[in-house]
Amino acid sequence: MVEAADVDEGASDAGSSKQAEGADSDSGVKKTFADLGVLQPICEACEAMNFKHPTPIQEKAIPEALAGRDVIGLAQTGSGKTAAFSIPILQALWDNPQPLFACVLAPTRELAYQISQQIEGLGATIGARCATIVGGMDMMSQSIALSKRPHVVVATPGRLQDHLENTKGFSLRNLKYLVMDEADRLLDMDFGPVIDKLLESIPRERKTMLFSATMSTKVSKLQRASLRNPIRIEVSTKYQTVETLSQYYMFMPFDRKDVYLVHLANEQAGQSVLVFTRTVHDAQRIAIMLRMLGFPAIPLHGQMSQSARLGALSKFKAGGRRILIATDVASRGLDIPAVDLVVNYDIPTHSKDYIHRVGRTARAGRSGRSVTLVTQYDVELLQRIEAVIGKKLSLFPGGNDTEAIMMLSERVGEAQRAARQEIRENGYGGAGGAGRRKRKMESERDAMDRDDDGGDNGMHYAARRGGGGGSRGGGGNKRKLSHKGR
Ligand SMILES: Nc1ncnc2c1ncn2[C@@H]1O[C@H](COP(=O)(O)OP(=O)(O)OP(=O)(O)O)[C@@H](O)[C@H]1O
Ligand SMILES: [Mg+2]
Repeated sequence: MVEAADVDEGASDAGSSKQAEGADSDSGVKKTFADLGVLQPICEACEAMNFKHPTPIQEKAIPEALAGRDVIGLAQTGSGKTAAFSIPILQALWDNPQPLFACVLAPTRELAYQISQQIEGLGATIGARCATIVGGMDMMSQSIALSKRPHVVVATPGRLQDHLENTKGFSLRNLKYLVMDEADRLLDMDFGPVIDKLLESIPRERKTMLFSATMSTKVSKLQRASLRNPIRIEVSTKYQTVETLSQYYMFMPFDRKDVYLVHLANEQAGQSVLVFTRTVHDAQRIAIMLRMLGFPAIPLHGQMSQSARLGALSKFKAGGRRILIATDVASRGLDIPAVDLVVNYDIPTHSKDYIHRVGRTARAGRSGRSVTLVTQYDVELLQRIEAVIGKKLSLFPGGNDTEAIMMLSERVGEAQRAARQEIRENGYGGAGGAGRRKRKMESERDAMDRDDDGGDNGMHYAARRGGGGGSRGGGGNKRKLSHKGR
């Protein structure tokens, strides 16, 4: 268990604005991955992914993790935390290949897929194999994937526990590394019971890494992950947003939110826009309304089937200047470089959520913008967010051109009525309301950023607040990982 005294305050560089473009070392010369002790084949994989220099969190966390320390890593959104934990794991795997070597937990399914992809990319030169185990997908094909004994399992907690209980021959008894990405989320009350259960199946003798852009400083919370003598590495303060992000607000009467949103969509035509809503109902309703008005809008929320969710995301990722209307299921971790603008249709009630949501743009050193819609009921929340991030939001240019905005009222009103009608008839299934309603309607706040397997993971909707260790050599990418008994 981690005690207050156990947590080394590691290198802290709060306020660093350099993100995924690579860090300057003290001498002003940018370090390379090789300088951090990363082996040649993995350096080659970094190069293939166009990672020329390590980012600040990578520069600080990789050497510590390579030295075998447990790591608590805090760095801004889009600053390369995924590679910061993946590279040391892949290197340790290279040194000591074995199946089911590492497990990475993530709070949402889409994020788990994304992490798998990155690990496979970074592990390509050494032949690392990954399985993604998430809710909403077929258990049987996942069991088959696990029976092939992958090196790394990336999972949402509920489904992983399900496999541990029900899939014959699958265990994590020999696990060497456990990572919790978005650790503060995984260690909160919703995931608590299932995380506790999972930890019972994972050996105590392991390395553990926790990463997030908003990490709890409460030792009691971190205790759940049973770290051993961890080092805490911070390259931002607890609630820092990215400097390349311009943060705006628009002020409007509550009952005119849709009109303002449509105005914004009009003004931003040609950009990739990600809109966050508090409820599934609004995500679906707004997507339909915008489509009726001719905008290329797609919904993403926890009441869609998993294949529809993945489809919506890949459509949006493919570009084409679309508008994705999502609940907080998309607020953490997702890396979609093309996002130009994040819109908070509803102001987040927790400042942490604000930081993750707006962090979907301005990633890896790019610039980006966010707009938060603020009504007469939201002023206090806005002030709270501003106090937490230590910044004042600016008025969005053109955001108070009331006359022009109100000219849209009539058309928006028609589209609103049509959208409500469509939801009444078709429910929330499928993109744009295409499918018949298959499951219970859910108008409360969405599954937020969690695995919504339901069942024993202790969550509920309604009550939510708003090769053989051989030689390394310079042989480069020739050698692949192998292990017996696949
Ligand atoms: N060293 C690097 N050089 C250039 N780009 C990088 C580097 N490391 C990571 N990236 C890229 O930066 C982007 C953001 O990385 P990543 O998703 O790991 O951020 P994150 O810190 O986990 O953010 P979040 O808090 O939102 O989860 C990705 O597109 C990734 O490929
Ligand atoms: Mg991340």
